[in-house]
Amino acid sequence: MTSAEASRGLTPPPADEVILAPSLLAADFARVGEQVAQVAAAGVRWLHLDIMDGHFVENLSFGPPVVRSVRRACDLFLDAHLMVTDPLRYAAAFAQAGCDLVNFQIEATEHPVQTARRIRDCGVLVGVTLNPDTPADAVWPLLDRPPADGGVDLVLVMSVFPGFGGQQFMESVLPKVRAIRQRLGPRQYLEIDGGIDKDTAPAAVSAGANVLVAGTAVFGARDPGRAVGELLAACGVA
Ligand code: DX5
Ligand code: ZN
Repeated sequence: MTSAEASRGLTPPPADEVILAPSLLAADFARVGEQVAQVAAAGVRWLHLDIMDGHFVENLSFGPPVVRSVRRACDLFLDAHLMVTDPLRYAAAFAQAGCDLVNFQIEATEHPVQTARRIRDCGVLVGVTLNPDTPADAVWPLLDRPPADGGVDLVLVMSVFPGFGGQQFMESVLPKVRAIRQRLGPRQYLEIDGGIDKDTAPAAVSAGANVLVAGTAVFGARDPGRAVGELLAACGVA
């Protein structure tokens, strides 16, 4: 591992560490560099990148050129969430643009192990995402394998249906978070995404999530740096 990789957080966190991954989707795109610098100064180490293709979800967001610019502007760990119909068509482009981890939606493929393996071949960590109505056992085949052999480094549980920021957190996914946490090894992350704010984050952390995605609650705040501190404090993280 290079020192750049280490500083971007490729080392799995201690079990009791909570990582906040602000979602760029909620940023002001005319001031992306400035806003990313604000959250980095507040101690953030991950940035969540919501990639939407207008097919898997009805919305469109941004693509590799924007990611490349963000990569040049910061040294945060870039966590790409591909909400796209054909993840393998785009995974290499996002890896080359500078992402550190690429998440694919399990609903988008009939061959998740093969998809995970091919994404890893792009030189990034691999995550798998489940929609709110996808049961936990959909990811068991991936969790029965070591990450380096068709397994995953991270499981992302959606706590809203993907497509838009600013939706209400679905508490009904918490039993799924608990079930997945029990099957994960100490080197695997459990991420939750959608409607996370200082009121909903503590329950997600109690259920076992250790990576919290927050768009509106961070970049929608008047002071994103302060919002980062408040969110982490609500979870008992200084
Ligand atoms: C939803 C995206 C989320 C979203 C989170 O499709 O995957 O990452 O931007 O935004 P908030 O925190 O506003 O729910
Ligand atoms: Zn997301």
